[in-house]
Amino acid sequence: MRHFLTLKDFTKKEILEIVNIGLEIKKDLKAGIYKDELKKQTLGMIFEKSSTRTRVSFETGMFQLGGHALFLSNRDIHLGRGEPIKDTARVISSMCDMVMIRTFEHSMIEEFASYSKVPVINGLTDSFHPVQLLADYMTMIEYGISENAVVAYIGDGNNMTNSWMMLSAKLGFDLRIATPKGYEVDSQVLETALRLAKTSGANITVMNDPKEAVHGATIVTTDTWASMGQEDEKAQRIKDFQGFMVDDLMMCLAQKGAKFLHCLPAYREQEVSEFVLEAHANIVFDEAENRLHAQKGLMVWLDKQK
Ligand code: CP
Ligand code: NVA
Repeated sequence: MRHFLTLKDFTKKEILEIVNIGLEIKKDLKAGIYKDELKKQTLGMIFEKSSTRTRVSFETGMFQLGGHALFLSNRDIHLGRGEPIKDTARVISSMCDMVMIRTFEHSMIEEFASYSKVPVINGLTDSFHPVQLLADYMTMIEYGISENAVVAYIGDGNNMTNSWMMLSAKLGFDLRIATPKGYEVDSQVLETALRLAKTSGANITVMNDPKEAVHGATIVTTDTWASMGQEDEKAQRIKDFQGFMVDDLMMCLAQKGAKFLHCLPAYREQEVSEFVLEAHANIVFDEAENRLHAQKGLMVWLDKQK
């Protein structure tokens, strides 16, 4: 049995297998073919933070695979009232076939997984958002931009940045990260990524100049400046991130025809201009839709490992 907590635990071959299963399932869905690959299975979904895409994609995905998904908000289950994680894990995993968790500290999901009898999927922690990167890579494949990609990530050194580092380190594409001073990436994650990159050949660089990062990039991406849980810092962050908005001037420095990706939700005129987001709306909303297909691929893959 395998859990899906970070991309660090997966080989390039496995990541590609998951994405390819997702692409096959997407093709079937577009042809009106539904295969009950997870018939009668139940996915427990624990949400300690808000979500639009993650909730809708996992719930819809499980239904389309012949199973059922349970939305478990921490306001409704005893976890939110102090029932220990290890007890919650043993109870839920005794009734469900898979569990997806969106929470704050990554250690919560690790503890849950260590007590779970069924696969646990990270639906976002403060440290990583690996399911998003499956959809992002699927989108890169579909748009023909996965080969020789040079990805520029502009903005906060957060869970998305950490996940981009892991994907780059595993798959071997180049990644430049530009953050404002004081908002750099986690040094331990960077160290791990640089070590893994030696095997894959990825070139991962970190800097504080967004223009330098974006110069010649084939893909430009960003994320909110204030992640969930950082709402109180928002005003300060808006000041500290001046010059880091991905606007059309910044996109002009990237390679001609460069694509823009965003995990969403997007804050217009903060991390991305209205113009850039709307100009790249096709790919950004395909990226969002691919959450459904990539996660179906992931659940089918995890079920096969049991
Ligand atoms: N990108 C993403 O995870 O979106 P949600 O927060 O809406 O789930
Ligand atoms: N970094 C963002 C990602 C949202 C999908 C957050 O954690 O809120």
